[in-house]
Amino acid sequence: MFEGKTIILGVSGGIAAYKAAQLASDLGKTAAEVHVIMTKNAAEFVTPLTFETLTNRRVSLDTFDRNFEYNVEHVALAKKADLFLVAPATANVIAKIAAGIADDMLTTTFLAASCPKIIAPAMNTGMFDNPITQRNLETLRGFGVEIVEPDSGWLACGDIGRGRMPNPPVLFEAVRRALTPHDLEGLRVLVTAGPTQEAIDPVRFISNHSTGRMGYELAAAARRRGARVTLVTGKTALEPPAGVEVVPVVSAQEMFDAVASRAQEQELIIKCAAVADYRPETAAEDKIKKRDGELTLHLSRTQDILAYLGSHRGEHQVLCGFSMETRDLVENSRAKLEKKGADMIVANSLKEEGAGFGTATNRVTVLTAKGAEPLPLMGKDAVADALLDRLLVLYREKNRSEGH
Ligand code: C5P
Repeated sequence: MFEGKTIILGVSGGIAAYKAAQLASDLGKTAAEVHVIMTKNAAEFVTPLTFETLTNRRVSLDTFDRNFEYNVEHVALAKKADLFLVAPATANVIAKIAAGIADDMLTTTFLAASCPKIIAPAMNTGMFDNPITQRNLETLRGFGVEIVEPDSGWLACGDIGRGRMPNPPVLFEAVRRALTPHDLEGLRVLVTAGPTQEAIDPVRFISNHSTGRMGYELAAAARRRGARVTLVTGKTALEPPAGVEVVPVVSAQEMFDAVASRAQEQELIIKCAAVADYRPETAAEDKIKKRDGELTLHLSRTQDILAYLGSHRGEHQVLCGFSMETRDLVENSRAKLEKKGADMIVANSLKEEGAGFGTATNRVTVLTAKGAEPLPLMGKDAVADALLDRLLVLYREKNRSEGH
């Protein structure tokens, strides 16, 4: 999505400018052409040289004390831009652009540009909460500018409250989303991710090695492509993607309840979670004390959520399960497709190099009624997009053939 794209990063004068340097670095590593424009005040916090080094391009700064040609160059840049992000955006810069004031490079280029625009406000809580700033943000929203909500927490001025600029990965994701075609717009997608934990007693549980990474990538990719995403997740160490409804669960039963109660309204359900198949029949109320000899645990089956969904499916819904095997991958996975009533099973082998638990990559085979399609080894984010491409085709086919 970055190939051939021109991104302008506008940096205004707040302490969060230091975080913008990381963002410039992250964007600079993509295939996009990144141009940084700083206000005069921003250059008091971080030097232009920092951004110039990170983006390999001259930083535009400040006012009109340079020659005329230079300004024309900036109108050309405004025309060429695919995305304009202002991060951090101070109350002052927000007020100026909301009023159409163009009195320096940043505000001039912003006004001249007609591409999608994102603003990441960062300021003291009092300034952010002030109705004047809120009105200015509302004005910008009305013009189609996306506002990335600031985080709450300790601010550099010592206050606690709203106004902290989100960390670079959140802004990077906002950029990715803005540059991605929204082909899943209007679809509701539910993704399950991570392991479940089945309590033995208040201290111990049975679980598995799932880190949740593949499911989180699927949720992020679906959201980036415009879907309304619900992520039902077991315990993981991952930061959930922004803009996704997160439903945390612990056990298979909790996951069942969370999924079953939301299933009807979903167009796509992707069951990526590693759900425990067995749980201790009863969870001891108190910690089980160790004694001499063996301890026997009685396990009972958990409910198979995917199979339940397969037999209670919404008419126009597309259902996707995952299958992790250590042998006879395709045969076992094909059997699951039928047994569980799914439209697609994504098979991955634990024995495969670069696939499986906790890796950044995956090599999967996609099984549908049409057959088996092995995909190459890819990053989990690319796998997520490849799977969503195929699920979208299935969704369109299903709804076309049913006359929708
Ligand atoms: O049968 P198996 O556990 O291998 O199937 C894996 C698929 O079934 C995954 O999509 C997983 O999320 C789902 N599953 C489930 N409920 C269970 C066990 C597995 O939904 N209790």
